[in-house]
Amino acid sequence: MNQRTCLSVILAAGEGTRMKSALPKVLHQIAGLPMVAHVVKAAEAAGAGDLALVIGHGAEEMRKAAQKFAPEVEAFVQEKRLGTAHAVLAARAAISKGYDDILVMFGDTPLIDPDALTAARLKLAQGAAVVVIGFRTANPTGYGRLIEKGGKLVAIREEKDCSDEEKKITFCNGGLMAIAGSQAMKLLDAVGNRNTKGEYYLTDIVELASNQGLDVVATEASFENALGINNRAELAQAEGIWQARRRHEAMLSGVTLIAPETVFFSHDTEIGADTIVEPNVWFGPGVKIAGGARIHAFSHIEGAIVAAHCDVGPFARLRPGADLKQKAKVGNFCEVKQAVIEEGAKVNHLTYIGDARVGAGANIGAGTITCNYDGYLKHFTDIGEGAFVGSNSSLVAPVTIGKGGYIASGSVITESVPDDALAFGRARQKTIPGKGKELRERFASAAVAKKR
Ligand code: UD1
Ligand code: CA
Repeated sequence: MNQRTCLSVILAAGEGTRMKSALPKVLHQIAGLPMVAHVVKAAEAAGAGDLALVIGHGAEEMRKAAQKFAPEVEAFVQEKRLGTAHAVLAARAAISKGYDDILVMFGDTPLIDPDALTAARLKLAQGAAVVVIGFRTANPTGYGRLIEKGGKLVAIREEKDCSDEEKKITFCNGGLMAIAGSQAMKLLDAVGNRNTKGEYYLTDIVELASNQGLDVVATEASFENALGINNRAELAQAEGIWQARRRHEAMLSGVTLIAPETVFFSHDTEIGADTIVEPNVWFGPGVKIAGGARIHAFSHIEGAIVAAHCDVGPFARLRPGADLKQKAKVGNFCEVKQAVIEEGAKVNHLTYIGDARVGAGANIGAGTITCNYDGYLKHFTDIGEGAFVGSNSSLVAPVTIGKGGYIASGSVITESVPDDALAFGRARQKTIPGKGKELRERFASAAVAKKR
């Protein structure tokens, strides 16, 4: 079947007014990726050939976004929104190249399962002219109903055109359709707009094909495959379903999630077996975690690489470019950005490490800050292997601490420190015997005098 050529047409020209947003609807994100990019990913996962994206509303923004998430997609502009069949025909130039299979998907239906696409194409390979992916629901309001006669799909009736009897049908059109390339143009061109909405309905090709005696088939998929996002409540619902699937997958692949419902993944999170994730952890895009790590509660991780057996959090923030090598530790209330924490190094408490390297086995004391920004430029801090940075030190970049360097607590380090040197960057302590008592007595009598 993979020998059959395929074009996937993704419809995304609609406005999405119910999102109440300046952003085109299909660019709203699920798991950190625009919903239309999820559709593209599903098509690609199903090996669904070339991709055509039909855009209209917010076309320029859409084109730009598509360049990023799917540069391989060819965009077609539907100037006027005259219905789903009309939208598919915006990609006429692509369709008429002559593919074996044409798949039509909606950009606002992000949870489609690649297997459902593959199953539909299989029906085409077996001779069907049109395959509709349907689903059953107790609440079919708003969906097109699949009208069957003698076990055969003969039409799809949009809600607004349904008789009361037809409205009771609970087998609905999920919006995904597969069309034999040899029939697609003829069928699409034959669609008219004599219906309640005055639109050219893609769904009408079912009746057209059926009337011509072509083989029309309905397959059934789960409801999620058809979940169309129209408002932000549905967006959150889709996010919830996506996260639940991903958590399940992570656990089956050997990751322990103590409270799975409180852990949030991104579309591209990679996480190795035997990692333990405590409750309330957020993974932003671009995170790779190797096996055997422990991510403690309330950590926020984005664009970071965490090697095997690292220990992160609780309450750690790893920002883009954080690169933790094996057995490194970044503890509570620490922020790491664009910095390598070498093997076994420890950044345990209340610290900011940015634009830096912390050498293997180094120990960074509580409250250490790499002062990486002078208000104009970012500068680098290099901390050597086995160095010790005492608590509450400020390392003013650019600066280098040599291997085995030792920084006294409370230092402000502005000059590089050679290997194995001890550096103080603070005023020396002065201790005056008896002076504390004297001061206390003086202040006490001043207070008494003031009260009188
Ligand atoms: C559509 C189906 C309905 C199905 C439902 C599933 C039709 C006629 N109806 O209805 O049977 O149950 O999806 O969710 O196909 N679009 C364009 N250009 C247009 C019109 C639409 O690009 O001119 C795009 C929209 O941006 C959207 C998709 O096509 O992504 C679906 O359009 P929409 O108007 O939401 O169709 P529904 O009424 O939901
Ligand atoms: Ca819709």
